[in-house]
Amino acid sequence: MKIIEVKNYKELSRIASDIIVEEINKKPKIVIGFATGKTPKKTYKNLVKAYKNKKVDFSKITALDADEFYPIKKENKKSYYHYLFVNLFNKVNVNKKNIFLLNGNTKDPEKECAGYEKSIKENPVDLQLLGIGENGHIGFNEPGSSRNSKTRVVGLTHIKGTGITMGISTIMKAKKVILLASGKKKAKAIYGLVKGKLTEEVPASFLREHKDFILIIDKKAGSLL
Ligand code: GLP
Repeated sequence: MKIIEVKNYKELSRIASDIIVEEINKKPKIVIGFATGKTPKKTYKNLVKAYKNKKVDFSKITALDADEFYPIKKENKKSYYHYLFVNLFNKVNVNKKNIFLLNGNTKDPEKECAGYEKSIKENPVDLQLLGIGENGHIGFNEPGSSRNSKTRVVGLTHIKGTGITMGISTIMKAKKVILLASGKKKAKAIYGLVKGKLTEEVPASFLREHKDFILIIDKKAGSLL
C-alpha cells in the first residue's frame, strides 16, 4: 500500500487525475472502473480539462463502474449511470460502445452480476478508482462483506434500499486500485483501512493485501493515523 497524504481536496484531486492521465497515456486501451460519489467529482473535472487541453485521449479506453442502485432507471438523476455520463463520459471522447456500467434496471440481476464477473475475467480491470463510506464500505460492499464476495445484489445499510456492487474479490482482481478519501468524516474509516484489523467489518481493510494499492487522502481524512 502506498499512502499519498496531501493538504486538501484540491491537491488530492490533482494527484488522482494526474495518475489517471498517466495510466491512460501508458496504455490507451486501459480498462478503468470509475467511482461515483462526491469525492471523485473534482478528479473528473480535471480529467475533462486535461482532455480539452489535449493531454489525454479517452477514445480507446473501456469504462466500468463499481456499483449502482437497484432497481433504478438510467435516466434517474440519482443513478450512478447518470452521474458518470454527466460528470465525465459526456464531456470526453470515450467511445460509448466501450462503456459497460452495471444495469440497475435489469429484469435479471443474477444474470447481470454473472455477466459482469465474466467480462471482468475476460477483460481485467487495469485501474479501479474507489471512494470509501464512513463505515469503511467500498462500492456497495457494506460491513459483513466477505473477502470472496463477487458482483451481487446487496442490501444497503446507510440508506434503505438495495444496490448492485462489484464484490471485494472482484475489486481485488484489478491490477491497480486507487482509493480517494477527503475530510474528517472519513478519518475513522481510513484509520480502519490502514491500521485497524483486517476484517469484514471494515471491507476497505482488505485492500491492504492488494499489491498495487494507492491511497490518496487529505490531512483531515488522515487525521487519526
Ligand atoms: C456510496 C457509493 C460509493 C462511494 C461512497 C462514498 O456509498 N456507493 O461508491 O465510494 O458512497 O461517497 P462520497 O465520495 O460521496 O463520500
